[in-house]
Amino acid sequence: MKKIVEVKNFKMSFNGKTVIKDLDFEVNKGEIFGLLGSNGSGKTTTIRTLLNLYEPTGGELLVDGKRFDANSDVTVGYLPEERGLYKKETVIDTMVYFGNLKGLKNPYEWSKKYLSRVGLADKLNEKTEKLSTGQQQKVQLGICIMNNPELLILDEPTKGFDPVNRKLLMNIIDELHQKGTTIILITHYMDEVERLCDRAVLLKDGVAHAYGTISEIKKKFGNKSLDEIFVEVYGGIDE
Ligand SMILES: Nc1ncnc2c1ncn2[C@@H]1O[C@H](COP(=O)(O)OP(=O)(O)OP(=O)(O)O)[C@@H](O)[C@H]1O
Ligand SMILES: [Mg+2]
Repeated sequence: MKKIVEVKNFKMSFNGKTVIKDLDFEVNKGEIFGLLGSNGSGKTTTIRTLLNLYEPTGGELLVDGKRFDANSDVTVGYLPEERGLYKKETVIDTMVYFGNLKGLKNPYEWSKKYLSRVGLADKLNEKTEKLSTGQQQKVQLGICIMNNPELLILDEPTKGFDPVNRKLLMNIIDELHQKGTTIILITHYMDEVERLCDRAVLLKDGVAHAYGTISEIKKKFGNKSLDEIFVEVYGGIDE
């Protein structure tokens, strides 16, 4: 199995406070990989460091065998945890702008089709600031996937989505997977992990508390549901 991402002996501290103690995992080409863990366990930090937005305190984080940078051969789509669009631009202008930057042949056609798929056909000429949070998130996701990235990293893509839109998004993720896209999915919804992910890593106390296929992880915890496992692993919060 060819690896597209390798995280080896990753260590990360902020101002002397250790967030990642020693983390190892790999993402295989073509799989959907769940990066899981409680709030503050270091998921976003791991992705930011993988994409070279942070320097690791120690270890190696590789995309296609190299440190990721602007000259990487791998096309990466990234939906960051922090959302944002140009507020005063229309939805379609925003998407076409990014489509051109990414070298799409028909950014207008692609965007129009995508916007109808996600229920925003009537919002093409609306300023993005007039869209609801979930609607803006769908526009941002469209921008991430429009150039068919080989590696797609989604940091809580369905945060705040209603059940219908969550299902729609899961279908879109599934279709990208069918087309061969490798996807790293950060989510707190275990039903998404059950339905979509091939393998996953559970971060706890700065290490991989569990790592492997979803059935391997379940087996390790006596074949409980992922929701039950999550509560068992992270339940001891001091109140
Ligand atoms: N730039 C930074 N400076 C200082 N501390 C940081 C920085 N980025 C992250 N941290 C700390 O690292 C820890 C992990 O944060 P991170 O955002 O990676 O968690 P997460 O697993 O993505 O959580 P969530 O599920 O809430 O999004 C937190 O304690 C956070 O305060
Ligand atoms: Mg996060």
